Amino acid sequence: MILALETSCDETCAAVMALDGRLRSSVVASQAADHVAFGGVVPEIASRRHLELVEPAVIAALDDAGAGVGDVTRVAVTAGPGLIGALLVGVGYAKGLAYGLGVPLIAVDHLRGHVASLQLAPEAPQGAHLVLLASGGHTLLLDVDGAGGVRTIARSLDDAAGEAFDKGARLLGLGYPGGPALAALAEAGDAAAHPLTTPLVGRDDLAFSFSGLKTALAQAVAAEAAAPADLAAAYQEAIVRHLVERAALGLAATGRSTLGLVGGVAANARLREALAELPAATVAAPLELCGDNAAMIARAALDLPPLDSAALLALDAHARSPIG
Ligand code: KG4
Ligand code: ZN
Repeated sequence: MILALETSCDETCAAVMALDGRLRSSVVASQAADHVAFGGVVPEIASRRHLELVEPAVIAALDDAGAGVGDVTRVAVTAGPGLIGALLVGVGYAKGLAYGLGVPLIAVDHLRGHVASLQLAPEAPQGAHLVLLASGGHTLLLDVDGAGGVRTIARSLDDAAGEAFDKGARLLGLGYPGGPALAALAEAGDAAAHPLTTPLVGRDDLAFSFSGLKTALAQAVAAEAAAPADLAAAYQEAIVRHLVERAALGLAATGRSTLGLVGGVAANARLREALAELPAATVAAPLELCGDNAAMIARAALDLPPLDSAALLALDAHARSPIG
């Protein structure tokens, strides 16, 4: 079986998966409480907490799977993109474990991991599909071909969608991480009370942008233009409309008939609802696998070749991704 590790940001994750793709366990140790006082992830704190949490996470994942370390026949790890110090904890641990056990190591791109989370959904897309990846670090439209090749067709010109949720939540005086808190406040609000303009509306370029929207929210908050819940609803609605509009353009440009939704923002209920408007079959990652986790890394590793022994020893973490 595969033991996978994911430490790219502020969650220490380990998972065990059988080689036939059946998930045996997935452990996510969140560090949110360590970063909340700072209103965001502090990279140095994240690295240090990963060091403390990685071994307990591995032991818990093996225990939950009813497995021992001797059952591990492959190790997989996120090698990037992410916070370099945080990634190095997982990469170092995985290299040592694979080398010590004498089993192959597979390096996984975090973004390909999110794409692979769709394969763990009950209605996993077969063949070519378009993926909307919306997380704290990225907002991408990815064209996935039938052989697993990934081509980036849209990126954000500025902030990521999850970052927009987090910054909006901060402007509204909500906690970190902001996405779930803003979404909860928005439920009690009326998006039409003080609507905010959808970014890049009327433009047909395949790109995302969220920074202007954030400025519009800041001005509305400062002017007390509407109740906080109404502003949260309007802000969420503008983000969702923007994501849905760009996804529609991406579907038209690629001719794909299936859209996958992945990444932390894929947990947003309003977004899941709005995507149903699209002229495509939509598949969202399972709720518990939208945010960072190691199950998606294990699933991506199933389709990747292991590193040879020289590459295992040379493996390094990298902050950026070729598809990000
Ligand atoms: O994929 P993820 O766990 O980490 C990255 O790879 O970035 O995504 C985290 C992001 C955060 O910005 C968080 O605020 C956002 O996902 N998020 C949400 C929701 N749950 C998490 N955004 C909107 N609505 C949610 N329900
Ligand atoms: Zn992520």
